[in-house]
Amino acid sequence: MSNEVNAVIIMFGGSGDLAHRKLYPALFGLFQHGVLKDHFAVIGTARRPWSDDHYQEVVRDSVKEAGNTDQDAIAAFAKHFYYQSHDVTDADHYVTLKQLAAKLDEQYEVGGNRLYYMAMAPKFFSTIATHLKSESLLTNTGFNRLIIEKPFGHDYESAKALNDAITGTFKEEQIYRIDHYLGKDMAQAILALRFANPWFKAVWDKDHIKDIQITLAEAVGVEERAGYYETAGALRDMVQNHVMQLLAYLTMDEPEALTSEAIHAVKAKAFDDLHRYTEDEARQNFVRAQYASATVDGKKVPGYREEDGVAPDSLTDTFVAGKMLTDNPKLAGVPIFIRTGKRLTRKSTQVTVTFKDGDGLFGHTPGDQLTVYIEPNEGYTLEINAKKLGETATLEREWLNMRHDDQAVSDAPEAYERLIGDVLAGDQTNFNHWNELAQIWRYVDVITRAWANDKTMPTYKAGSMGPQAAFDLLKPGDHKWYWQPRHTQLAD
Ligand SMILES: NC(=O)c1ccc[n+]([C@@H]2O[C@H](COP(=O)([O-])OP(=O)(O)OC[C@H]3O[C@@H](n4cnc5c(N)ncnc54)[C@H](OP(=O)(O)O)[C@@H]3O)[C@@H](O)[C@H]2O)c1
Repeated sequence: MSNEVNAVIIMFGGSGDLAHRKLYPALFGLFQHGVLKDHFAVIGTARRPWSDDHYQEVVRDSVKEAGNTDQDAIAAFAKHFYYQSHDVTDADHYVTLKQLAAKLDEQYEVGGNRLYYMAMAPKFFSTIATHLKSESLLTNTGFNRLIIEKPFGHDYESAKALNDAITGTFKEEQIYRIDHYLGKDMAQAILALRFANPWFKAVWDKDHIKDIQITLAEAVGVEERAGYYETAGALRDMVQNHVMQLLAYLTMDEPEALTSEAIHAVKAKAFDDLHRYTEDEARQNFVRAQYASATVDGKKVPGYREEDGVAPDSLTDTFVAGKMLTDNPKLAGVPIFIRTGKRLTRKSTQVTVTFKDGDGLFGHTPGDQLTVYIEPNEGYTLEINAKKLGETATLEREWLNMRHDDQAVSDAPEAYERLIGDVLAGDQTNFNHWNELAQIWRYVDVITRAWANDKTMPTYKAGSMGPQAAFDLLKPGDHKWYWQPRHTQLAD
């Protein structure tokens, strides 16, 4: 059975970094898998005055840079791309965009299906949505779907204003709010792990779990993104989206079915269940910091405030750690420790569930620890108590390890390919609904407000795993970070 989808895809920000690095290779993956075949066209739009020929060359380069080598397929794919120079703030341009889309719709026999991809600065999202409506770009036949990149708002108020603007044009079921973590295999694997294994299901509760930990560590600094990062910080850039998505998968109830509706129902409840802190409690339970200059791997790296584009007195957090709780009775009281930051020891996203210690035949035994590696490695570790070889009653810790093969990981579709494929198939499972986002922002806004009047900013050494306060956070109750990579060459 063919899984081909017909569509005209309009890419706002067609000359941008995201389109180049991720979206064109993702569309090529869909082309190779037959999802996009004969009946599709892509219109790239941005202000610079490119020709179709030049645009097609850009697309071919992007696909090649992503490691694809099938020249014939790349050439055939790029022929479906058209460019229109367009300033999204200028209403007149939507008229020409509409004409081009209608022409390509007919030429490729698409039947009115449209995908609008907002791959540009969020300040333009409302403007584009409003013009799509006022200039009547949406078709009356086929589907009209909107993909919208993160960040979705800066706080609850701005997210609501943005949502009001786009829902003036698109219905909730036509909106696909991207969080590319939801397209990651190992994030999705948490659901299978929890709900396809009766053994884990039986112990996923406050009686058995001591703590849950989520780490999203980046080794890089702010790089060229200071302009954006200065307005965001780690809390908005990572916690508000990726950390929260992983947290929902780890704490939500079992969905009634593997359908988008059923999964969103329990996810929304997981966000509703988040234990709300007062601002005072948020100050006690969340830690922020900025990286300071250090020598890492023999190289001096600048501190955050010394980076290009960063204010010398910046109060932007490059690291956040926190202790969160859920009011879901099944997990109430189980601390959920989260941390994320730039310039940490090593890049890794991983979650660990530590089970409670036991007492029995072998005396007091430490709890088992289950780790899911999300990126760059993909796999699982279960750390257990086991009998030492050659001895009768001596225990030692053993690691049951599973790593997906590197080749298999690199052959699997990238998150963006899976997500765009989901949109073409009309599957909203792996996208954020507004009610979920609204709850997340309400939670995050309390932390932002708690920090708003604090003009002090603790630091941590670049190449470390964050400030001491992030370790102290776990001391009550005898918790500690499971993942503690050591940097052998870290110097002052
Ligand atoms: N890059 C990433 O890895 C990444 C990752 C996750 C999320 N995102 C999100 O993806 C979105 C795009 O990011 P990006 O990194 O691709 O940004 P970018 O490289 O700055 O690209 C911005 C695009 O918008 C176009 N543009 C700017 N002003 C315009 C206007 N007035 N009218 C029409 N086009 C205009 C630019 O082209 P012209 O200058 O030619 O107009 C360019 O194509 C953002 O929401 C970002 O947060 C990016």
